[in-house]
Amino acid sequence: MKMPVALLLLLALCNAIKVNGEESDGQCDYNLILEPRPHSVSIQEFGAVGDGKTLNTLAFQNAIFYLKSFADKGGAQLYVPPGRWLTGSFNLTSHLTLFLEKGAIILGSQDPSHWDVVEPLPSYGRGIELPGGRYRSLINGYMLRDVVITGDNGTIDGQGSVWWDWFNSHTLKYSRPHLVEFILSEHVVVSNLTFLNAPAYNIHPVYCSNVHIQNISVYSPPESPYTVGIVPDSSDNVCIEDCSIAMGHDAIALKSGWDEYGIAYGRPTTAIHIRKVHLQSSSGSTIAFGSEMSGGISNVLVEKVHLYNSLNGIEFRTTRGRGAYIKEIIISDVDLQNIQRAFGASSLCGTHPDDNFDPNALPVLDQITLQDIIGKNITIAGNFTGIQESPLTNICLSNISLSINSASSNIWSCSYVQGSSESVSPEPCPDLESPYTSSSTCFHIINSYGRASVL
Ligand SMILES: *[C@@H]1O[C@H](CO)[C@@H](O)[C@H](O)[C@H]1NC(C)=O
Ligand SMILES: *[C@@H]1O[C@H](CO)[C@@H](O)[C@H](O)[C@H]1NC(C)=O
Ligand SMILES: *[C@@H]1O[C@H](CO)[C@@H](O)[C@H](O)[C@H]1NC(C)=O
Ligand SMILES: *[C@@H]1O[C@H](CO)[C@@H](O)[C@H](O)[C@H]1NC(C)=O
Ligand SMILES: *[C@@H]1O[C@H](CO)[C@@H](O)[C@H](O)[C@H]1NC(C)=O
Ligand SMILES: *[C@@H]1O[C@H](CO)[C@@H](O)[C@H](O)[C@H]1NC(C)=O
Ligand SMILES: *[C@@H]1O[C@H](CO)[C@@H](O)[C@H](O)[C@H]1NC(C)=O
Repeated sequence: MKMPVALLLLLALCNAIKVNGEESDGQCDYNLILEPRPHSVSIQEFGAVGDGKTLNTLAFQNAIFYLKSFADKGGAQLYVPPGRWLTGSFNLTSHLTLFLEKGAIILGSQDPSHWDVVEPLPSYGRGIELPGGRYRSLINGYMLRDVVITGDNGTIDGQGSVWWDWFNSHTLKYSRPHLVEFILSEHVVVSNLTFLNAPAYNIHPVYCSNVHIQNISVYSPPESPYTVGIVPDSSDNVCIEDCSIAMGHDAIALKSGWDEYGIAYGRPTTAIHIRKVHLQSSSGSTIAFGSEMSGGISNVLVEKVHLYNSLNGIEFRTTRGRGAYIKEIIISDVDLQNIQRAFGASSLCGTHPDDNFDPNALPVLDQITLQDIIGKNITIAGNFTGIQESPLTNICLSNISLSINSASSNIWSCSYVQGSSESVSPEPCPDLESPYTSSSTCFHIINSYGRASVL
């Protein structure tokens, strides 16, 4: 039951991004208004050349350095005109709009010396792919507020094929870079752009608040190893809407740190709203929770999504040593097509950063509702695998209809799981068949401010 709740405007307003609080069920219900910046400069004024060959890292760095001085004057826009603008990694600044005109393409350099190596994130303790440091992302924000990356469908192309080859041949010394990363930042918007060929992730907000990702297309080829679309990581109040994402690995993955490092850092991913997205994943999941989730993941509303041509649909992944929880999740109004396994939840999935994880730090998966779902051409409906000491609890399935293309006896598999179901076909395992009544603990989100409730 969704109750209209008049929201207090708890968010500090800033120059460029205004959120008009109305009756709201989630972060995307705020009306996002982008006001033009009072100042604008073109990257060409800093000597950039858009021939696809000239390296423009210094031009971007100098332009941003210059635009820092407008921070207290309403901020400024860095305009990127049509052209192919090759660059190594650069930093953004607060109160900035990076605007990519139609036909503007920012190209990531294929020379690793143009990407600095930086310290690992504290909640991971090491690079996610290799011990030690990691390459800095192409476009970086560190401790910023009020930053917009937008355009008239300009493109950010990571030219990641070299990174995929190095990853596959095990020749990298450090973990691969991402396209856009914001760390410890707030009031961030990414909109109206196309992202192509990321070396690893496309958009990675980590330790961030109030992030809106709207109307973007994100594509990496099916064979690109472990490429991921959008990864909200130890971040809160995130909206992802009207996006199309097709990836080698996960399309959207929610994370919050890795084993003892994530537990110590302790920052959850919470108040996340995802709607009206089209997602495809060749070798991963269209929507994944974890497996790194040691700061916790809670209060997530996913609605009106189309998931197609993928290995896995919606997947919850965790393992011993992660600690924390994935809880208070609603997935609603989903259309699945040509998917091997529609739903998965496993507490036996994922590796460890090192040998110092605590095997007694058991993750909790609780209050997960899947409702109003239609699937066509599905091979396996669901596999819910908990662990004896920490079973999956309050898994609620309601109004789900999957057409199955196999005669497999494992259409559903369950172990160490408890839940309810109502109007689910094919019929789920007995563990999920306790009757679904209004007094059962099926979960509904009332709004995005953590006032989630069990009805
Ligand atoms: C970019 O920001 C990082 C902090 O995240 C800083 O260490 C680095 O020096 C900055 N690089 C430039 C070119 O400003
Ligand atoms: C989405 O972006 C495209 C350009 O990429 C633009 O033409 C369209 O108007 C945008 N739609 C919305 C709803 O903002
Ligand atoms: C946006 O640009 C991409 C790649 O440049 C193109 O494939 C796509 O059709 C464009 N979308 C719109 C809405 O113009
Ligand atoms: C996206 O582009 C459309 C069309 O130009 C514009 O109306 C809209 O405000 C833009 N949205 C964002 C969030 O940038
Ligand atoms: C059914 O889905 C599988 C992928 O799971 C795909 O290979 C196959 O082509 C689909 N069949 C139809 C009839 O679309
Ligand atoms: C279900 O998942 C578990 C662990 O993730 C795996 O060990 C098991 O083989 C799977 N069952 C089936 C029938 O695929
Ligand atoms: C069941 O789900 C379908 C779509 O997934 C929706 O159209 C229908 O209204 C739902 N039925 C009920 C009774 O909520």
